[in-house]
Amino acid sequence: MRSISIGLVVYFFIGRNLVKLICDYYLGISYTALFTYPYPIFFSPVAVVMTYFYIVRPLRKINYAMNQFKLGAFEERLDIKRNDEIGNIAETFNDLATRIQRMIRSERQMTSNMGHEIRTPLTRMTWHLNNIRDQVDVEKSIDFLEYEIQELANVSARMLKIAQIERAEFKPQLIDVNINELIYGVIDKTEGLAIENSCKVELVATSVIHAKTEPDLIEIAIDNIVHNAINYTVPNSVIKIILNNDTVNNFLEISVRDHGPGVPEEYLERIFKQFERVDQSRNNETGGTGLGLALCNSIATALGGAIKASNLYPGLEIRFRVPLNC
Ligand SMILES: Nc1ncnc2c1ncn2[C@@H]1O[C@H](COP(=O)(O)OP(=O)(O)O)[C@@H](O)[C@H]1O
Ligand SMILES: [Mg+2]
Repeated sequence: MRSISIGLVVYFFIGRNLVKLICDYYLGISYTALFTYPYPIFFSPVAVVMTYFYIVRPLRKINYAMNQFKLGAFEERLDIKRNDEIGNIAETFNDLATRIQRMIRSERQMTSNMGHEIRTPLTRMTWHLNNIRDQVDVEKSIDFLEYEIQELANVSARMLKIAQIERAEFKPQLIDVNINELIYGVIDKTEGLAIENSCKVELVATSVIHAKTEPDLIEIAIDNIVHNAINYTVPNSVIKIILNNDTVNNFLEISVRDHGPGVPEEYLERIFKQFERVDQSRNNETGGTGLGLALCNSIATALGGAIKASNLYPGLEIRFRVPLNC
């Protein structure tokens, strides 16, 4: 009943003028002639049916899909393909639904990964605590406990940083940065670890490069990449940090090359995802949280750039690219 009344209203306010236009210009019959029997009897039901199929039914479909989505059916989509306002609404709904579904999926994935990552060290911590209580390997257990606590602190610090950077309202604080100086700072900070691993980190740059960017974020990213390089490179090797700036295309590239084993081809993209490690165990000497490169990826994206890994056979190259002038 409601659709019939909507149909009549639409007919009298829009359809009538349309019919008039079609009669006058295309059919060559007088519009007033339509009101003499039998035209009205024919046109009114046609307008009602057309309005129902072209307007009311798709609107009902849209309303149904939105309600389903509201109730948690995140896979709900509209199969309305039209080149008009209703088609636009359907397309916008589908885009929005896909984005929201992707966000919810990644949040769920992150929560489940977090749960798993935290449960494993907590189980090991309980085990070490029991050892201490039973006076078994006390010193060793305390060392392990210290290590596990530090790792958990690392996980939480990195997760918080990623969440902060990925927030929609996050705006980097851009200032003029001397990139060469910043890299020398990272080399100084990582010198102790490099000496421990019998390797050296060197900067290769043909000129002094300045960029308008956020130095803290660049430093965190390069520090993480260099830490990995030092951890994986073979002893007595030199890790090279190569600077490249392209003023025409407005980008700065910082590439870090080591002489380690590289990563299997299928991991070249995966290592930038949270908690992804080629070696899943965290108990060997190189094992970390699996969040370092994910953080670098978030930083590169937040600054409008990108990060990539490629194998050098031997070695791995990580290319961190950001705009010279954001
Ligand atoms: N320079 C490298 N050489 C070989 N493998 C690497 C290198 N850098 C990263 N990887 C691989 O990528 C994984 C993810 O790195 P990252 O996110 O920094 O996590 P983490 O260092 O905490 O394990 C590492 O566990 C390792 O498997
Ligand atoms: Mg790392």
